[in-house]
Amino acid sequence: MIIKAGFIQTDPVFGSVSQNVDRAAELIASMDAALVVLPELFSTGYQFISKEEVSDLAEEVPSGRTTQRLAALSKERGIFIVAGIAERGNGFVYNSAVLTGPGGFMGVYRKTHLFYEEKLWFSPGDTGFRVWQTPIGAIGIMICFDWFFPESARTLALKGAEIIAHPANLVLPYCPDGMVTRCLENRVFAVTSNRIGTEERGGRDALIFIGRSQIVSPRGEVLCRASAGCEETGAAELDLTRAQDKDLNRFNHLIRDRRPDLYGS
Ligand code: ACM
Repeated sequence: MIIKAGFIQTDPVFGSVSQNVDRAAELIASMDAALVVLPELFSTGYQFISKEEVSDLAEEVPSGRTTQRLAALSKERGIFIVAGIAERGNGFVYNSAVLTGPGGFMGVYRKTHLFYEEKLWFSPGDTGFRVWQTPIGAIGIMICFDWFFPESARTLALKGAEIIAHPANLVLPYCPDGMVTRCLENRVFAVTSNRIGTEERGGRDALIFIGRSQIVSPRGEVLCRASAGCEETGAAELDLTRAQDKDLNRFNHLIRDRRPDLYGS
């Protein structure tokens, strides 16, 4: 099966949720893709400076207005959307990503590996890595810094993911090239949606987001890569049979050749 997947690379204004969601909706409407991935925390912005601020901007899932809007967009356009939002739930705040589809809300993933000052504002995710079987393929989700831990993509691949949807707010330079290896070693597609712009709030370190959203194939080919500094969209056709084939050659199979008995923990 061949499907079209894409990203939107945005420049969110911190705290302006309606404006950020409207802009994302506009960009989604300009695309022709069955799966669209949005950045991490696309609706709120990234650099929180107090627990009160993050709690006020976080929303319940799926009843919050951002998830409801994404679900409506998915239904209207008959597409799947993966988007990063701040989630309030069970008395905690999570850095989460929601999946919506033509039937509405489908599920949530809560970021496992929190980066830098995220540890001050968010609780570590408790969902584990999740894969959804959909009519356009098996979609797994990880968020930004999760990529730095090879176990994240590996776990998604072991659970059958064909496409990794990867909302991000990258500030370190390594991910665009690093994801080539993640895709190669797991034979999966990955759609990384990053943001652009700078945030410097409350006297904290300036954060410069690196853009360069991209789509990578199971052979490690960069099918599409955005610029470092512009708001833009990108899309590519993904032949999912390439993610299902884990045979490197007649002798080597990416999953069956693993030696977990020798890996320790
Ligand atoms: C990150 O995880 N936002 C770098």
